[in-house]
Amino acid sequence: MNFSFLHHIGLIALFSMLYVAVAQTNYRNISLGWSLTASDDSASWPAPSGDFAFGFRRLENQNLYLLSIWYDKIPNKTLVWYANGDNPAPQGSRVELTMDGLFSLTDPGGGVIWRPSPVSVVYAAMLDTGNFILGNNDSSNVWQSFDDPADTLLPAQILRVNRSVSARTTETNFTRGRFELRLIPDGNLVLNTIALPTGNAYEAYYWSNTVDAPDGTTGNQLIFNASRAYLYIIKTNGEIVNVTSGNIGQRFPTRDYYHRATVDYDGVLRLYAHPRTSRNGRWDETWSTTWYAPNDICSAITGERGGGTCGFNTYCSIENDGRPNCHCLPGFNFSDPNNKLNGCEQDTFQKCNLEGLRAEDLYDMNQLNNWQWYNSAGYEDLQSLSDDQCRSSCLYDCHCFLAVSIGGTCTKKKLPVSNGRRLEGGSDSIFVKVLKSDLSSGDPSSTRSNLGKRNQATFSLVAALLLGSSGFLNLLLVAAILIVIVLRSYAGRTKLRKLPSLLDTNLRTFTYEELKVTTDKFKEELGRGSFGTVYKGMLPLSGSRILVAIKELYKISQEGEKEFKTEASVIAKIHHKNLVRLIGFCDEESHKLLEFEYMSNG
Ligand SMILES: *[C@@H]1O[C@H](CO)[C@@H](O)[C@H](O)[C@H]1NC(C)=O
Ligand SMILES: *[C@@H]1O[C@H](CO)[C@@H](O)[C@H](O)[C@H]1NC(C)=O
Ligand SMILES: *[C@@H]1O[C@H](CO)[C@@H](O)[C@H](O)[C@H]1NC(C)=O
Ligand SMILES: *[C@@H]1O[C@H](CO)[C@@H](O)[C@H](O)[C@H]1NC(C)=O
Ligand SMILES: *[C@@H]1O[C@H](CO)[C@@H](O)[C@H](O)[C@H]1NC(C)=O
Ligand SMILES: *[C@@H]1O[C@H](CO)[C@@H](O)[C@H](O)[C@H]1NC(C)=O
Ligand SMILES: *[C@@H]1O[C@H](CO)[C@@H](O)[C@H](O)[C@H]1NC(C)=O
Ligand SMILES: *[C@@H]1O[C@H](CO)[C@@H](O)[C@H](O)[C@H]1NC(C)=O
Repeated sequence: MNFSFLHHIGLIALFSMLYVAVAQTNYRNISLGWSLTASDDSASWPAPSGDFAFGFRRLENQNLYLLSIWYDKIPNKTLVWYANGDNPAPQGSRVELTMDGLFSLTDPGGGVIWRPSPVSVVYAAMLDTGNFILGNNDSSNVWQSFDDPADTLLPAQILRVNRSVSARTTETNFTRGRFELRLIPDGNLVLNTIALPTGNAYEAYYWSNTVDAPDGTTGNQLIFNASRAYLYIIKTNGEIVNVTSGNIGQRFPTRDYYHRATVDYDGVLRLYAHPRTSRNGRWDETWSTTWYAPNDICSAITGERGGGTCGFNTYCSIENDGRPNCHCLPGFNFSDPNNKLNGCEQDTFQKCNLEGLRAEDLYDMNQLNNWQWYNSAGYEDLQSLSDDQCRSSCLYDCHCFLAVSIGGTCTKKKLPVSNGRRLEGGSDSIFVKVLKSDLSSGDPSSTRSNLGKRNQATFSLVAALLLGSSGFLNLLLVAAILIVIVLRSYAGRTKLRKLPSLLDTNLRTFTYEELKVTTDKFKEELGRGSFGTVYKGMLPLSGSRILVAIKELYKISQEGEKEFKTEASVIAKIHHKNLVRLIGFCDEESHKLLEFEYMSNG
């Protein structure tokens, strides 16, 4: 009896101890054999408090999913961790903890998309802190999401030496972006840009100054204090250095607010707070920024390598909450309109050796006001030049794209340029070389109808700028032959060698005899192609003589001509905005020749 009684007491004690243990650890286990499939109605695994959940989130407008952890009680379901940002999972992918203790995310075909490093686990749990853990037999965590952060740190999370937090590419693209936060071995917490895809770090643009002190103490851990919602660094000697202001928790008490620290896709590290509950069923407040660094990212990134804040060929201005606003330099467009931090491109490019063409006919030097150019390195520094001299030095230098004139020093830069900055009151004189606007007009119809009006020099320039590839030359040839075909059918009907009015150009017709003279009896051959042979010629034109290239087409058979028409009609539908100058043609019985302006670069 006594024994039995004691036994009961013992059991009760044991149960209450167990209860206490469970209540204290406060999580539920996911056990062997558990799995979750990526689909719109897939369940998720909540933390006991319900604040966080673990599972699949679908990417906006895509049938792809991220294995992730999110704030589950707020309308926006803000992601705080994701496993496969670089490699989103298709619908039907599964995350599972197999009977033999493997935890992995696999695609519908069974291929592994992501797997944490430990090989064998016996349980998994989603904790109330937002930490997802994998445990083994002896109840210790063998892996936790807190040790493998994505772009966000949560209260109670610790960042150790050599660990990093990486920004995503854009708000909705979770591929690793160009910015990261690291605790580096010298003890500094730094933000730096990285080279993609290798990930090697460029110069830091923010640092905590917790490096080697004289006594050898260094920054050892970055801690997100859970009760006061601020970041600090513990040094190896136990000393504490606040990273953020220490009073965030007073303004946004953790009892009322959720907190997170995120390296945003624009490269700024921000702390945010969000009310835990709605007011009268309405969520008026969303995440508000409680702290951020650096203060001015446009000016903070000055390294000479990499694209700076906004990517290459951009300039940057700063907005609220340290948000960079990226703009393209004159003459450039965003490389990716969905990602304005990815730099800008232009579709024309500068050429040297423009044979007698005058730079001032081709380019304007735009002056940019209220500017400063960080990263002052150029390929040439010229001393004692006025702004005007600097401007024209760049204009006449075919390598120069941009010149910065400060206090008599003229720094010339080539493409691509980085770290441009617009700043109220910035006093640098900055000149950018841009193709004259009427030369870079993108409207195909106006380009076409203006062909005849253009002066020779500007015309060859556009051609020279754009004649990058032999593919383009072929396009021109086909276009030219199309013209000939049209002319032939027209001439056949009217017996008049006149241009059809639809070709609003000023083409000339030549006789075969004339071209014989022009080419000195087809003496100098420039090349042969599948459609004909090209000869060099000298054409007397308004008092002077210009170099021309004359292409004598091989005899086109009936069949070939048909094929040709089909191809030509396809190409004719593709409006190319620039045409090389076709001066004229000859169409006499078997002699079919085209006369082009001569391009020295072939
Ligand atoms: C757990 O530990 C027991 C005893 O040490 C062992 O027999 C068992 O194989 C372990 N299970 C796993 C999944 O490691
Ligand atoms: C989770 O599972 C492990 C291994 O079976 C066990 O040691 C641990 O106590 C469990 N935790 C809870 C809260 O059930
Ligand atoms: C960090 O990485 C460096 C270089 O790989 C290594 O030498 C150092 O021991 C690491 N430090 C820690 C604390 O892991
Ligand atoms: C996300 O960004 C990466 C890197 O810039 C790019 O390769 C990828 O196509 C983007 N994904 C989407 C869906 O736009
Ligand atoms: C958070 O900060 C407060 C005040 O500095 C401190 O008393 C507390 O121990 C810290 N908590 C943790 C988990 O470090
Ligand atoms: C850091 O923040 C904590 C928490 O608010 C505060 O008690 C402490 O005085 C701060 N330390 C410094 C050096 O400002
Ligand atoms: C949800 O997020 C979007 C953009 O991220 C924001 O515009 C909106 O205000 C947020 N709504 C709530 C209720 O938090
Ligand atoms: C660049 O942008 C301008 C203005 O938005 C547009 O007219 C032009 O076509 C664009 N050029 C390219 C190559 O996208």
